[in-house]
Amino acid sequence: MLKGKNILLAVTGGVAAYKMADVASMLVKQGADVHVVMTKNATNFIPAETFQVLTKNKVYTDCFDEDPDDYVNVPHISLGTSADCILVAPATADVIGKIANGIADDMVTTTILPALCPVLIAPSMNGYMFDNPIVQDNISKLKKFGYKIIEPSFGHLACGYDGKGKLPSPEDLVENVLLAVARDKDLKGKKVLVNAGPTEESIDPIRVITNHSSGKMGYAIARQAAFRGAGVTLVSGPTNLKSPMGVEVISIKSAEDMYQEMVKNADQADIIIMAAAVADYTPVTTAENKIKKTEGDFSIPLKRTKDILLSIGQQKKDGQFICGFSMETENMLENSRKKLIKKNADMICANNLRQAGAGYQVDTNILTLIQKDFEKELPLLSKDEAANEILTVIKNSLKK
Ligand code: CTP
Repeated sequence: MLKGKNILLAVTGGVAAYKMADVASMLVKQGADVHVVMTKNATNFIPAETFQVLTKNKVYTDCFDEDPDDYVNVPHISLGTSADCILVAPATADVIGKIANGIADDMVTTTILPALCPVLIAPSMNGYMFDNPIVQDNISKLKKFGYKIIEPSFGHLACGYDGKGKLPSPEDLVENVLLAVARDKDLKGKKVLVNAGPTEESIDPIRVITNHSSGKMGYAIARQAAFRGAGVTLVSGPTNLKSPMGVEVISIKSAEDMYQEMVKNADQADIIIMAAAVADYTPVTTAENKIKKTEGDFSIPLKRTKDILLSIGQQKKDGQFICGFSMETENMLENSRKKLIKKNADMICANNLRQAGAGYQVDTNILTLIQKDFEKELPLLSKDEAANEILTVIKNSLKK
C-alpha cells in the first residue's frame, strides 16, 4: 500500500528505539522507500547499520556527515522535503521540546524543520515525564502547529513504572503511517457510516442466535474510507477484529441495537454502507434465567427484526448514497437486483457464498456491484482491495 511513497523515520534516544527495526522492515514490505535519521543518543540503543541493512539506504546521524562528492544535495533538506510522511518515534521529551520551539541542532530536528509532509510524533518516556506540564505544553503546541501526536499506550515501562508512556506496537505505528499517506484523500469532507459483523439475539442469559459473519468486509471498508480521508463511523456487531485506526466504532449486540445506532447516525452521513449480517429473526421473548433442558424436542418462537437497510432507504436524504450487501447461495444477480429496488438502495454489492474465496470469514471476496443502470463484476480481490473498488464506484456515482 506504500508503493512509490518515501517514508522518513526519525529515531531519537529512547529505549523503545529497538522497535523501529520492525517498523522499518514492515514499511519496506509495504513497498515504501524508507529513509532513517537518528540522534546520536538513539545510536546507543540501536545501531544505524541495522536500519541501513533493512532499508538499503544510508542512515544519517550527523548533519555534517555528507557525501564529499555531492555538492548539490544537503541531506537534511533533501530528506525532509522529499518525504511523503515523517514518523518521529520514539520521540523523547527532548526532541518534542526542540521541535515545539523551533530548535534545530541535530540531524533529526534539522530534517523535520523544512518538512512539507505530514509529521507523526510518537512520544515515549516515563509516565511522570510525560505528565510533566512542560512536556504537555510542548505537545499541545505541536498539535496546534499541525503535527499529529500518536498517543503513547499504558503499560509496564522500561524504567520499572506502570503508566502512560509506552511506544505503541510496530503494527500500530505502521497503521498510523498508512492512515496518513496510503491513499489519496479523495473522500475528505465526506461522512461515511458503515455497519459490520454479525448480530447476537439472546435466547436466555447464556445462549444466542448469531451467524458466521466475521465482520472483515465492513471493517475493510471503514479502514479504507478512513485512509481516503473520510470521517468514518462503524457500527459493529461482536467480532474479534481490531478497531480500524481513525474510525469511531460503536459496538452493539442485537439487530435492534444496530437499528437504533444506524438510524441515529444516518442523518449526518453522506455515504451509508451496510455490510453487516443482521439477524432477520429474534426470539419473541428472552428468558430471564437459563432455560433448563427437558425430555423431548424444543423450539423457540421467533419474530421478525426491523430491516435496517429498508428503513434507511425509505428515509434517504437528498444526495445521500446508500449501499447494501447481498449474500446469496443461488440466483445471486436476480435476488440482489430485487433487493436494490425493494430497499431503495443506490447500490448492492452481491456475493455468492458458494464461490471459493467469497463471503464470510475469508480475507478475499468476489463481488458484483449492482446499480439500476450499471453493473460491475469484480475479480477475486482482498477485502481491502474490494473495499477500495466499492468506494471508488460510490465516489464516481456521487459526482454524477
Ligand atoms: N439487512 C438489514 N436489516 C436486516 C436484514 C438485512 O439492514 N434485518 C441488510 C444487510 O445489511 C444487507 C442487505 O440488507 O446490506 C441484504 O441482506 P441479506 O441478508 O442479503 O438479505 P435480506 O434482506 O435479509 O433478504 P433474504 O433473507 O431474502 O436474503
